This record gives sequence, C-alpha cells and structure tokens, in this order.
Amino acid sequence: FLGIVGNQIGMATYVVGGFVRDLLLGRKNYDIDIVVEGDARYFAQTFGRYFEVTCVEHKEFLTTSIFFKNGLRIDVATARTEYYEEPAVLPNVEMSTIKKDLYRRDFSINAMAIKLNQEEFGLLLDFFGCKRDLEKGVIRTLYPLSFVEDPTRILRAIRFEQRFNFRIEEHTLELLKKYVAQNYLERVTGQRLRDELEKIIEEPEPIKAIKRMDELGVLNHLFPHSLVDAETLSMLKRYFNRKRSSSPKPVYILAMILLRESSPEKLDSIVKRYGFPKKFPDWIRKAMSISRELKKIIVKGEQLSYRIFFETVRKPEPEILWFIDAFLDEENSKKFQNYLQKLEKEKPKITGSILIDKFGLKEGKEIKKILDKLQLAKLEGLPDDEE
Ligand code: CTP
Repeated sequence: FLGIVGNQIGMATYVVGGFVRDLLLGRKNYDIDIVVEGDARYFAQTFGRYFEVTCVEHKEFLTTSIFFKNGLRIDVATARTEYYEEPAVLPNVEMSTIKKDLYRRDFSINAMAIKLNQEEFGLLLDFFGCKRDLEKGVIRTLYPLSFVEDPTRILRAIRFEQRFNFRIEEHTLELLKKYVAQNYLERVTGQRLRDELEKIIEEPEPIKAIKRMDELGVLNHLFPHSLVDAETLSMLKRYFNRKRSSSPKPVYILAMILLRESSPEKLDSIVKRYGFPKKFPDWIRKAMSISRELKKIIVKGEQLSYRIFFETVRKPEPEILWFIDAFLDEENSKKFQNYLQKLEKEKPKITGSILIDKFGLKEGKEIKKILDKLQLAKLEGLPDDEE
C-alpha cells in the first residue's frame, strides 16, 4: 500500500536499509524504513488518510514517523544527501535522489533499496555491489570518510560483523583502526556511544563483540584503562549467561567489570562522559571489597555459607549483587541466589519495636545486634516458634 500512496502523489517510494538486508538474509525485521523522493511529511499525511495512524514529524532530519495503533511504526524519510558541518555531529540534510541517499549510508549491506511503486514493485536497487557483499559476508564502507562523519559506525561495524558472523573488509578495517587511533570515538557524545554499546549488549552474543572491540583497540577508547584478562572474560560470560530481567542496566555491570581496577579519578570521568549514576565508583569500590573477602575465603578452601554471605555481603544494591554473582562460580552463585531469596522471605517475626515495647530494651546498637543474630538464625533454619 505504501507504493500505491507513492503512485497517487507521484513519488518514487522505497523500503531501504536493514529491512532489505534482513529480507535478503531471510531474517525477521519489523523496522520499516521508507525513503521517498519528495516530501516525507506529505507522503505520511497522505498515507494517514487511509489508516488510523499518528504522524510525528522530525523536521530537521526531513523524516516523519507513522505510528499505528497496534504499535507498528514506519519511518518515512525524504531521500537525502547528508552533509556534516563538522565531523561526528548529527547531519544537516538536503533533498537528493535515492542513489545519493544510499551512498551516504554506513555499510554496503545496509545500502540497498526495494522499490514499492506499482509499476516496478519489488525492484532491488543495488548500486554499489551490496548484494555481493551480503552474500560474501563482508562489512564494507561506501566512502572513505564514512567513519569520520559518524564514528559510531565503528561500533556498528563490529556489531554487524559479530551478529552475522561476517568480516570487516580489509580496507574498511584499516580505516576503522586509523580513526580509532586518531581519537574519533572521543569526538562523539557519551550518550550516542552508550546507545551503541547498549545495542551491542542486546545482541545474542555480546562477548564476541566485546572481545573484538578489545582486539581493535576500541574498548580502550570507550573505557580507558579497562582491564580485559581471563577473570574479566569469565565474569562477563557468567553475567551474560545469567542475566535476567531483574538485572540493572547491563551497561553499568559491563563497565563495572571492565573498570574494576580503575582509580576513583578515572571513574569520575567515566561517570561524567556516559551520564552514569554518581554512585558508580562507589558500587565498584564496594563490589571489589566484597569480592576480595569472598576470594580469600574460597582460596582458603572454605565453603561459602549463608553466614558468610550475611557477614560479608548482607543485602547489596542490585549493581553490586550482579557483579558479585558474576564473580562466583556456578555452585556458589546458586548458593548466593538461595541466600538472597531466603533473606527476603525469612524475616524474623520479632522486630525492633517488639524488643523495645515488650522487652524494654533501649534503642541502639544492642537491638541491631539482636536482630542480626535472629536474622542469621532464621537463615540457618531457626523455626518461627523458637524465636
Ligand atoms: N544508518 C547509517 N549510519 C548510521 C546508522 C544508520 O547509514 N550510523 C543507516 C543504515 O542504512 C541502516 C539504517 O540507517 O540500515 C537504519 O539504521 P538502524 O535502524 O540503526 O539499523 P539497522 O540497519 O536497521 O540495524 P538493526 O538490525 O540493528 O536495527
């Protein structure tokens, strides 16, 4: 129907980008990006005469989003040549034809279009050997300044390479390394980098991409002085395998693991750059001190018990909890999770106010000690009636 609307108002209409790539790869993709050779807003308004949709215009990018009631969204853009006023900032746009529009895109695999107008419905537009690259499994930029104009493409290249098991083409890889070394990632706002990192984390196998970022020197430009050793990799593996919906933002846990040996000053600059919570350095400090304690006990050959967890960890903030969990092996992680559940469920019946009102104790440290003892006894199986 998009093509019919295009015909009605005399606009060439294409579906482009990731949707076309995934269609050719036989992968599901519900992100529909439309490019029209004409006014995107007018196209969307005309489309809206036939369906119950809401259109939201983003004037500066010459795009309009069409929202359906069922949640489906279609983005319509005016074919454009992007020109960047200075590298690494968002582009200005001007009208252009579909070929130029496709040429300004990140990689050849994302630079194909399919025509939707009635007379040529289904025609694949492949100006730059894109389909061949897709078949060969190659990530290739289309023009030399691609990474300069948008350094977030450095992270996108790695994400697509790892997602599809492709390889970054040799010349593209050279350019990527060159601009990483010339600090082009540092020119991008922390928020945009964080968005890209979060997309990498959402991939089915984020560790592959993290390793690749390390290998290409990218990681050190995102998180200077990050530590990638065997312990880092095993913590990341455990975290990503166990990650559940209850996990706090995974980007915090990733950064905590990578930066666990960093100095407070370095952590402060990371907090500023990425807009992390102010508590971030404190989380690392606490998580590391608990992990060291637990490590000592493990190294001595002692079993981690509920008592030990209660005495060292107590009830940590979620960020610290997930860090410690990643630090523990399978068996101890299970124990730790059981401990946390039990701590939540098995609260002593006797409370501080009962101790004050019924037993005549005075507020203060003594009461806390008694409550702690009771809590620990509960964890270790004290029945209610013995309290
Ligand atoms: N694009 C680009 N440069 C970027 C981001 C996007 O050229 N830095 C273009 C690409 O043509 C891409 C399209 O915009 O295909 C849509 O971008 P996006 O939705 O971010 O990515 P997809 O390619 O759809 O990938 P994903 O499957 O991860 O959503």
